[in-house]
Amino acid sequence: MPTQFDAAGNLRHLLTLDGLSRNHIQSLLDGAENFLRPPWDSPARSDALLGHTVVNLFYEPSTRTRASFELAARRLGAEVLNLEFESSAQVKGESVLDTLSTLQAMYVDIFVLRHGEAGVAASVAKHVAPHVSVLNAGEAHLSHPTQGLIDLLTIRQCKHSFEDLVVAIVGDIRHSRVARSAYHGLRAMGIGEIRLVGPQVLLPEPEDMIDTTRCATLDEGVRDADVVMALRIQRERIREADIPDSQHYFAAFGLTEDRLTLAKADVVVMHPGPMNRGVEISPEVADGPRSVITRQVTNGVAVRMAVLTALAKSLRERQQVLFP
Ligand code: CP
Repeated sequence: MPTQFDAAGNLRHLLTLDGLSRNHIQSLLDGAENFLRPPWDSPARSDALLGHTVVNLFYEPSTRTRASFELAARRLGAEVLNLEFESSAQVKGESVLDTLSTLQAMYVDIFVLRHGEAGVAASVAKHVAPHVSVLNAGEAHLSHPTQGLIDLLTIRQCKHSFEDLVVAIVGDIRHSRVARSAYHGLRAMGIGEIRLVGPQVLLPEPEDMIDTTRCATLDEGVRDADVVMALRIQRERIREADIPDSQHYFAAFGLTEDRLTLAKADVVVMHPGPMNRGVEISPEVADGPRSVITRQVTNGVAVRMAVLTALAKSLRERQQVLFP
């Protein structure tokens, strides 16, 4: 894994939350707060990325991450290019690294990359020119750092501190990059307890997420929880034979109003999206008063603006050294 920081200690790449300090995370969350506006106001803007070019390179589908990175980069004054797998030269056999060096030759200086294979973002970060930055927008089942920051920001807004909280992550944790980034971020912030809730086949190996409480039933998992994070079943990463039947799954692990009566009275319900209503969450919970799912989406643009602004600082300093 290449270092995520430049020689001056500024964030150069964001590949994972694993190893990021509480101070680094806190400063990105504070940065994101500065980009939030009331719903009746126009969105925050700045010229932090004026003169820079951002490419969104998505080899897997996305609605929220791709749209919010594009809005974030445009609102910071960048030129933005969106490339998708189906319309890229990869279908003609071009490697990711060749695509990257082609785009780099067009003066792209920030790559936002989603890829289904583990290690691709890190490999790209190792190979890009010294003035270029890479942002991981979702890597296999391993890492989705900006989603992790969104989840931390949303929890901080609702609960103010992390130390005494019980966070229950419910669903397909084994195949979830969102869960892994949440796990690393919550631990960095000093979370009280993380519960992993789901059928055995969808829970990670114990050594994959140490210092967590594993719960085989939803009742056990949500009892007295402060935050419940629902996750979809990642069908695209599971053998057909291991995919649970939706009706049985909903009966055992679907979040309903009834099940949530076991949680704390002020529990908040999160979901990174995309949601499968009636499988991991009931429509009443998804749209109900405890849901902060829409807030997570709003926070998504602000978090990505904060991360891009942090990269821009490193970018400017590196470019001054390389091209004085
Ligand atoms: N949460 C998330 O990554 O959603 P998308 O797949 O729509 O980007």
